[in-house]
Amino acid sequence: MKNKNQDRFPVQENQPSNWFEPLYAGSNKNGEGVPWANMDTHPSFGNWLKKNPLEGDEKSALVVGCGMGDDAIELEALGFQVTAFDVSETAIKFCKERFPQSKVEFVQADLLVTQPHWKRKFDFVLEIYTVQALPPKYEMELIQNIADFVASDGQLLVIAEVSKEERSFENGPPWLLTSQHIDSFVSCGLKVVGKYVEQDSSNIGELGTYVTTFKRTNV
Ligand SMILES: C[S@@+](CC[C@H](N)C(=O)[O-])C[C@H]1O[C@@H](n2cnc3c(N)ncnc32)[C@H](O)[C@@H]1O
Repeated sequence: MKNKNQDRFPVQENQPSNWFEPLYAGSNKNGEGVPWANMDTHPSFGNWLKKNPLEGDEKSALVVGCGMGDDAIELEALGFQVTAFDVSETAIKFCKERFPQSKVEFVQADLLVTQPHWKRKFDFVLEIYTVQALPPKYEMELIQNIADFVASDGQLLVIAEVSKEERSFENGPPWLLTSQHIDSFVSCGLKVVGKYVEQDSSNIGELGTYVTTFKRTNV
């Protein structure tokens, strides 16, 4: 049976990112109409930062699927030089309108298209809920592309909602990940350096929100 969100969001498996632009275009810069908008640092990222204080020191950071842009602004405030991208032009326009003084480079880009100029360029990469926003058949491509952004000695933080259910197109969006996603990042040359699971009433995935920190230790 088809997930009820497929009536609300017109997802086509072979054009998996096409429904985001109309969604943002029908929303506003206050986040009204954007179901995942926190209009603040993502709570799980905020919790992680309390346990793992970060100092940017002008190092580079990349935010994947940045949405309304608040996590990029948090990283800028910590001293990083930040690039943040989203497939939606309108999302990027909202970010620029919301944070006109910011030096964050907000750019439209597609995670399903290889970005050779970003290969192994970033000291800190942040991925929250983008892989699960796209159908399961793209999982490995998305994970490889995210892992490729991480510089030698760089860190990647992945925040994802996880379920025991097998992933299938009919079950999303969102297409909750399985715990297997951690091994997939490892198979792309990263090492797990920290992991925990958040479980609270807001969890959609029955196994909770997985918060995993990876590092690229090879050169
Ligand atoms: C579930 S939202 C999460 C947004 C943000 N990370 C957060 O936690 O608030 C997924 C985001 O990924 C973006 N997105 C979807 N497909 C993408 C793609 N192929 N490349 C880049 N961004 C994409 C969407 O436009 C949306 O902003």
